[in-house]
Amino acid sequence: MSIKAIIGGQWGDEGKGKIVDLLSQNSHIVARYQGGANAGHTVYYNDSKLVLHQIPSGILRKDCKCILGNGMVVDPIALVEEINMVKSHGVSIDNKIFLALNAHIVTPIHKSIDCYQESITEKKIGTTGRGIGPTYVNKYDRVGIRALDLLDEQKLKNKIETSLSKALNTYKFDDSEILKIKEQLVGFMECCKDVSQYVSDTFTIIHNQSQNGDNILIEGAQGTLLDIDHGTYPYVTSSNASSSGISTGLGLPMTKVDNIVGILKAYTTRVGEGPFPTELFDEDGKKLQDIGKEYGATTGRPRRCGWFDGVAAKYSSLVNGFTEIALTKLDILDNFDSIKFCTGYKINNQTTKAFSEVLHNLDNVEPIYTTFEGWRTPTTGIETFDELPDKTKIYINFISEFINTPIKIISTGPGRNQIIKL
Ligand code: GDP
Ligand code: IMO
Ligand code: MG
Repeated sequence: MSIKAIIGGQWGDEGKGKIVDLLSQNSHIVARYQGGANAGHTVYYNDSKLVLHQIPSGILRKDCKCILGNGMVVDPIALVEEINMVKSHGVSIDNKIFLALNAHIVTPIHKSIDCYQESITEKKIGTTGRGIGPTYVNKYDRVGIRALDLLDEQKLKNKIETSLSKALNTYKFDDSEILKIKEQLVGFMECCKDVSQYVSDTFTIIHNQSQNGDNILIEGAQGTLLDIDHGTYPYVTSSNASSSGISTGLGLPMTKVDNIVGILKAYTTRVGEGPFPTELFDEDGKKLQDIGKEYGATTGRPRRCGWFDGVAAKYSSLVNGFTEIALTKLDILDNFDSIKFCTGYKINNQTTKAFSEVLHNLDNVEPIYTTFEGWRTPTTGIETFDELPDKTKIYINFISEFINTPIKIISTGPGRNQIIKL
């Protein structure tokens, strides 16, 4: 009986969906605590690929409750679409989805503001366009629409009208955009009616089940380096993607959480703008992108690729308090003659191993690499550590020692069973 959190240790897309799906086998609850439809978590069900954006990845497990926590920003239109998508794969959602009363609601207005802001600024963040930032702005401005507002249609309509007139006075939307928002708001109201059936006191559900000794899995979205406080600001998302978001985003104090599993890809990727010290612009980068199929699960954008950044991962482990690591996409490195690992940064003729020291100056650091010999043999689908090539074991042990955190899971393919448990 335990409470376990799964947190992205890099810039997102580390394979959290796969690991949550795997570990949710014995979970009574899987809960998301932040973010919204900007996330894209890939899971496989009966050989079909499903990408989940807002529904926790425990949805595939029969008796698992899926909680969308108060720290999330939830898009009702996207949620209805996602529920239909999941159902079309034969997955039952009956009595499985619970949306926190005080989660904030993303409206079509927020999505338009998000895209508009990106279109007029020279310093683009490369957002997913899902309205995440503007919805959190409204939350902190104390004018947000919350899930509990879905329970009173007239109140919701009034809030939407206020929000729309404010947006139209603030942003220079063209006529076609205004028309689009108004049309989308009609569908939005319908979806809100539908989604209102899921609005629940999730706080009580979590605490009651925690007191019963049930297994609870907490699913992070995005990654630590995209965290609004600890990430590469301003090139971040608008929530606390690191473990710090759990207590506010679910009302569950950290003293209740037994394990924090950091998900780290065996190399690094980033989608959107912002600094990325180990980014590769050569053949190796292209190879990681091609073999790793590194294209965004939410927007389809190509992901920037580079070598494993040990400095960033060590920082991530400290920020989150990782008790263990799940290393994913090991198999993607099967075809490389040599593999590099960043152990430090050079900056102004000095070296550092402390990410926080250079977090605000990452564009100017030069990675210092240790090079490993590639193993050049397939690891895809290997299920025990002993079966791995010696050269692979050397690379894995180095990562664990460098980050000072045990690696307990190694993923060797996208499938549910392509996994090594240590
Ligand atoms: P998430 O956002 O952290 O859940 O990750 P995404 O789903 O956005 O991206 C991870 C991608 O890698 C998905 O396409 C997964 O199916 C795939 N994946 C996960 N683990 C592995 C692995 O060990 N090997 C391979 N080849 N693919 C993997
Ligand atoms: P998962 O959960 C990777 C990135 C965007 C952009 C920045 C801000 O699948 O790992 P936002 O729309 O959140 O305001 O965009 O954050 N981003 C992600 N990158 N994986 C994600 O989620 C991401 N969610 C947001 O690309 O750079
Ligand atoms: Mg993703």
